[in-house]
Amino acid sequence: MKGVHFLVAFLFLALASSFASASDPSPLQDFCVALNDTKNAVFVNGKFCKDPKLAKAEDFFFSGLNMPGNTSNQLGSKVTPVNVEQVAGLNTLGISLARIDFAPYGGLNPPHTHPRATEILVVLEGTLYVGFVTSNPDNRLITKVLYPGDVFVFPVGLIHFQFNIGNTNAIAFAGLSSQNPGVITIANAVFGSNPPINPDVLAKAFQLDKNVVKYLQSKFWWDNN
Ligand SMILES: *[C@@H]1O[C@H](CO)[C@@H](O)[C@H](O)[C@H]1NC(C)=O
Ligand SMILES: *[C@@H]1O[C@H](CO)[C@@H](O)[C@H](O)[C@H]1NC(C)=O
Repeated sequence: MKGVHFLVAFLFLALASSFASASDPSPLQDFCVALNDTKNAVFVNGKFCKDPKLAKAEDFFFSGLNMPGNTSNQLGSKVTPVNVEQVAGLNTLGISLARIDFAPYGGLNPPHTHPRATEILVVLEGTLYVGFVTSNPDNRLITKVLYPGDVFVFPVGLIHFQFNIGNTNAIAFAGLSSQNPGVITIANAVFGSNPPINPDVLAKAFQLDKNVVKYLQSKFWWDNN
């Protein structure tokens, strides 16, 4: 019986530690500058590595994050990502960055999730109303109004948003705990999928009239990333 308890405790600990390591796997060498190989290659969980001896400063470099993103779109926001697609040296390192620009009052980074990353955001300019919703069954909404210098965390996988409630442009930078955080914009994924989800499914799931679903599916869902 004691052995069983020990086993249960051990399994629980093993599970807890696997939950704790929610970011990308730790690198097994100093770095692994990503190499695009389209021929003679199989897909692996990450990218192929350049021979470390051939690594150069440019592999670890990105320039232009001082430039504002273009917010002249239906959301009034623009995300400029700096992840492994932009900086190949981020491969295997479990980290990336983004700049987010918001148009004056109403600029919105709409409800979305990062399936692979926790996000830590700092406001440089403007006033943002931000929030995230916890998972079922509570679905608790946690919000805050952020001013320049304020920092807020969006835990991995949770639906979150940022909304400019100030009368000036807003600028935020975000660190993300993955080389490739991924983005699922809720409205785009649900109503803008390709091909469209059967309207009967969405009508029932969202308690909507089927015509409302079809109307929503006919809309253009802008991707601000
Ligand atoms: C690798 O390929 C992606 C997708 O085609 C591209 O966006 C990226 O710039 C490429 N990276 C390098 C280092 O060539
Ligand atoms: C911003 O985007 C809009 C809409 O696509 C475009 O008309 C405008 O020229 C862009 N502005 C800049 C500065 O690139």
